[in-house]
Amino acid sequence: MTRTGIRLKAPAPGWTVDADVVVVGSGVAGLTAALRCTAAGLRTVVVTKARLDDGSTRWAQGGIAAALGDGDTPEQHLDDTLVAGAGLCDEEAVRALVTEGPDAVRRLIDTGALFDTDPESGAIQLTREGGHHRRRIAHAGGDATGAEISRALVEAVRSASLRTIENALVLDLLMDPDGRTAGVTLHVMGEGQHDGVGAVRAPAVVLATGGMGQVFSATTNPSVSTGDGVALALRAGAEVSDLEFVQFHPTVLFLGSDAEGQQPLVSEAVRGEGAHLVDADGVRFMLGQHELAELAPRDIVAKGIMRRMREQGAEHMYLDARHFGARMWESRFPTILAACRSHGIDPVTEPVPVAPAAHYASGGVRTDLRGRTTVPGLYACGEVACTGVHGANRLASNSLLEGLVFAERIAEDIAAHPATPGPAVESEEAPGPLLDPATRIEIQRIMTAGAGVLRSADSLDHAADALEVLYRSAAAEADAGNGSDDVKDAEPGVDAWEATNLLLVSRVLVAAARAREETRGCHWREDRPDRDDDTWRRHLVVRLTPGRTLAVHRTASASFPPVDPGPVPAQREQ
Ligand code: SIN
Repeated sequence: MTRTGIRLKAPAPGWTVDADVVVVGSGVAGLTAALRCTAAGLRTVVVTKARLDDGSTRWAQGGIAAALGDGDTPEQHLDDTLVAGAGLCDEEAVRALVTEGPDAVRRLIDTGALFDTDPESGAIQLTREGGHHRRRIAHAGGDATGAEISRALVEAVRSASLRTIENALVLDLLMDPDGRTAGVTLHVMGEGQHDGVGAVRAPAVVLATGGMGQVFSATTNPSVSTGDGVALALRAGAEVSDLEFVQFHPTVLFLGSDAEGQQPLVSEAVRGEGAHLVDADGVRFMLGQHELAELAPRDIVAKGIMRRMREQGAEHMYLDARHFGARMWESRFPTILAACRSHGIDPVTEPVPVAPAAHYASGGVRTDLRGRTTVPGLYACGEVACTGVHGANRLASNSLLEGLVFAERIAEDIAAHPATPGPAVESEEAPGPLLDPATRIEIQRIMTAGAGVLRSADSLDHAADALEVLYRSAAAEADAGNGSDDVKDAEPGVDAWEATNLLLVSRVLVAAARAREETRGCHWREDRPDRDDDTWRRHLVVRLTPGRTLAVHRTASASFPPVDPGPVPAQREQ
């Protein structure tokens, strides 16, 4: 592990809290890890960027996949996950997910989550989504699964009197002189319990910060999903893997080609219950493209939509579920119905305009099967992590399950290896340049144009050059600002820290996408349309060097440590 000595420019911490574990993030992964650590007697602090019930989990609609139904088995769930992952899943990680998943869901129910059940038998109702050959998705409140899971976990956290710090953006990892985790620095915004920059000192840090959808202009992710966990891990010297595999959800409500920010999702479960994808002429264009038609894995449906859009010069396709009728729409998909109607579209009487938008990072901070990253004491779970479960394309509704299962594994590991932090050392290197907050929109436009659903060597080269210009101009301003009153890089603050994190994760994503010269899963290269297993059944692992360059290498395993190092990796610095 190489320490980078790189950190965000920020005031020195003005206050300190001590703990055994600090969990950063309050989605299903973070709160499950926090509850299990507390139950194991560990002093646990949860730090979250907004309120405890904000973040990506509460937006999850479809549900949570687990082999709970009659005739279903973990083995069948494993098969579907491996197929969706397009040759890059870590089978051991998937096996852990699918075999531990059903009991993890039962424990979630014991914690208080109420799933939809059959009124007569009382059995959990299960639906289908893309890539699943069986009804396997448990849901709650019709299409409000994430909100219900979040409600149950937040209530459990509050009853356990767990210490929480809300409205706090985590900045950097504190490390001791041996390179072990010693806590985090963070900034509490506005109305939190403490003001300004502080530190939580703990020998174990669990990153559960969610995704990075905000690197693109239009995404299903909330505005807080700015890749803060991946950026922190990179600055701490951790490895990240598979960042090129960004999943574009095929059916996001189309609100115009210039729509920016968080867009309303139209769950795959709508297709799971029988909705059809049609073009402007009403033709079901997914028929004949895949044996599962509209329920093919997500990357195949997104590509099918994009191809038809290009053929017809259209900005979107349609999801037609008028045949559900008003009663089914109201009971089964109340959230989606309300979102569509609030935008003047009535799915009961008209097809819903949909197009793909950025949805989920299949890659992230590289971990082993216990959630350990390459930095001792630093763990990651949920969307921020790359456990090897998702490969090149996550199977629908596997993410809530991954959050649950790996959070429990992490808590067990922390409890089994109690540690005390040594004295934290301040990085000796001057902090890097902070980006002007206005740059956020520019990054999003560059990434959407160059590294979106359809990529090519040219588009990625343009994106890499444009990101480099942004980085160099911020660095030049920082240098000039050190000696001049006229020119300064941005002042420390949430918007500048977020923009700086977005730029770092965008650079890594583009570096990996340029390097992967093939099409696989949700990485679609127009100039390399074929999957190339001989060269590319490999993972791209990236780390930040002390000189702020990116080191990219190929390896046989997404998770850490590598199971099989494979042929001599291609080392290249960018
Ligand atoms: C959906 O409901 O379509 C999203 C579920 C997921 O991303 O797994």
